[in-house]
Amino acid sequence: MKNIVILISGRGSNMEALIAARDAGDLPVNIAAVISNRPDAAGLETAARAGIVTHFVNHKAFAGRESFDAALAECIDQFAPDLVVLAGFMRILSDGFVRHYEGRLVNIHPSLLPSFPGLHTHQRALDEGVRIHGCTVHFVTPTLDHGPVIIQAAVPVLDGDSEATLAARVLCEEHKVYPQAVRWFAEGRLRLEGGRVRLDAGMAEGAVLISPEVR
Ligand code: GRF
Repeated sequence: MKNIVILISGRGSNMEALIAARDAGDLPVNIAAVISNRPDAAGLETAARAGIVTHFVNHKAFAGRESFDAALAECIDQFAPDLVVLAGFMRILSDGFVRHYEGRLVNIHPSLLPSFPGLHTHQRALDEGVRIHGCTVHFVTPTLDHGPVIIQAAVPVLDGDSEATLAARVLCEEHKVYPQAVRWFAEGRLRLEGGRVRLDAGMAEGAVLISPEVR
């Protein structure tokens, strides 16, 4: 069974979705540890309650990004992960860190990349007047919120949406696509070919989730 380590900075609802999928027997992975850069991340308690080893590596205790990333990698590597899962980990990672985990580092971003990399994605989607919004799971490259796309989910932007209602609609989809992407990885079904993700035969039908309102 594949070993995964999950990195969080806050509430950890995507982490919870992964734990729930594992508990339901739908995600054949060992969640070896959950690591946060913030001691007050609510997700740390949730993980501990689920019996998962937790760690805290304080970014404020390091002079620079490289030294923090080195300490973080040391903490992660003691668990020998096959996959490192960024789940609301709010730190920009150094090139060296990203290269160290090349092909085994994934992130979830709350927009349909390449639209809206960075922060405040839901408000920016509303400001632009887009009619379709969503989320993306991708392999991480040194460029922020960029990298080979594994799965995306699309939701409609409805008249009268606020940042909060749109965020909630997207989050619901995040909780479906992240376990799906990690399951594909765990089953050895993801292949990187020329910078694009290919799914092994029989899996193509799940490569995109589209809300019924968008179809
Ligand atoms: C999610 O919207 C995720 O896409 C983004 O940060 C948020 C984390 O939420 N990267 P949670 O901590 O998983 O609840």
